[in-house]
Amino acid sequence: VFGPGPSGGNQRLIVVSNRVSVPRAGASAGGLAVALEAALQSSGGIWFGWSGETRTAIDADSLHTQQVGPVTFATTDLTRRDVEDYYLGYSNRALWPVCHYRLDLSRFNERETQAYFRVNDLFARKLAGLVGPSDLVWVHDYHLIPLGAALRDRGLTNRIGFFLHIPWPPPEVVSALPGYRRLLQGLAAYDVVGFQTERDVEHFVRCLEEEGLGTSEDDGTVVVGDRRIEVASFPIGIDTEGVAEMADKSVGLSSTRRMLASLEGKRLLIGVDRLDYSKGLRERIRSYVAYLAAHPEEKGRVSYLQITPKSRSEVPEYAELEREVATQVGEANGACGDFDWTPIRYLTQNVPHATLMGLYRMADVGLVTPLRDGMNLVAKEFVASQDPQDPGVLILSRYAGAAFELEGGALIVNPYDAVGTAEAIDRALRMSRGERRERWETMMDVLRTHTVNAWWQNFLAALSPAEDERSAPSSS
Ligand code: F6P
Repeated sequence: VFGPGPSGGNQRLIVVSNRVSVPRAGASAGGLAVALEAALQSSGGIWFGWSGETRTAIDADSLHTQQVGPVTFATTDLTRRDVEDYYLGYSNRALWPVCHYRLDLSRFNERETQAYFRVNDLFARKLAGLVGPSDLVWVHDYHLIPLGAALRDRGLTNRIGFFLHIPWPPPEVVSALPGYRRLLQGLAAYDVVGFQTERDVEHFVRCLEEEGLGTSEDDGTVVVGDRRIEVASFPIGIDTEGVAEMADKSVGLSSTRRMLASLEGKRLLIGVDRLDYSKGLRERIRSYVAYLAAHPEEKGRVSYLQITPKSRSEVPEYAELEREVATQVGEANGACGDFDWTPIRYLTQNVPHATLMGLYRMADVGLVTPLRDGMNLVAKEFVASQDPQDPGVLILSRYAGAAFELEGGALIVNPYDAVGTAEAIDRALRMSRGERRERWETMMDVLRTHTVNAWWQNFLAALSPAEDERSAPSSS
């Protein structure tokens, strides 16, 4: 879909994200990192972003670079202050909660807002010199919304695309953000703006129109001044076959054997989420407790494993949630458990990917009940991990982006409704094998086509210049 143009020109891909997955010996990269690397491998290119390190002062031109095959990993350090204000501050205390419809948890602060735009300028300054005239630039996620505009300010006329991994709410919610108009102008500076779902696209187009920044056309493009941009949904997927194979092979893992032995025939429910208030952990635990209250005969016959690696602990709202969930799990186990039965097994550690796929496969029920989620790849990996002959049931929040694709096979719930979710747990545990297989097939049909490779290929196809523009890069 892209690569050297007809003239043999050197069209590389430049991926930009806040965190960069520099391959490290012995470490296994996540699915998205593997996919983006595959995209970079096919054309050669650069993956640019924050190194994850801080230092007291940053030289405006310094970079760490590492060459791995045709891919250059280029990273910059940030000052501690920048990390506090740009990453922990505006990105994760303003943008993240607002984009997840949590105005109540958002905190706005002028210094942090300014730092957000300033760090994006710093990224643009460091990146601009690395970009060749026909390179495609693909910017990822909420930390870097203004980067495209900052690159344009430095004279870049390349095709630049942006993909938002998290939800984009309607103007009634998102307009509360400080710098709202500037964010929209930043997004309008890209050639392609991609979202997870059509719902996010609709919201964004309404934002542009209500602010008088753009007009949508019937062909799905948006006219912004004298430019035309493409705004579309590109639902992110997984390596469906790879996950299925990994889960199939998990039978041989010692972790699988240990887990099976510990279950002693109990039915398994599983939840896997970063420790984040968007994931609906408290509501999920309440639903499980409601299930046990409604079905006391099932006590001792089910086990709920919740794996929740700690995340963004330096942000106060996350530290508070860590305490709340730990307390709630302790209380639920204390009140509902027995001397020979622990209702909830709760882990706050990272678990290797292969082990997770094995755990998904042995689970009867996958609980994916976020209060709001851009997509949620756990839902997809849970489905792809199942034994085709005897698959488990996915209970999925209507507020996860994945619900748009998986509603035909999952049990869709309102995660705020503990009684309704408890009923879904009961239904899932009683579902006939025939119905489970049918539902699973419906979901797999989607997952087999909407793979992670299809995702990046579709996005880059939209971003690549039309054939007749290839030899002469546009100068919009
Ligand atoms: O969902 C958004 C996201 O940025 C993911 O891409 C990433 O895996 C996750 O959040 C981790 O967040 P952080 O970089 O803040 O640890």
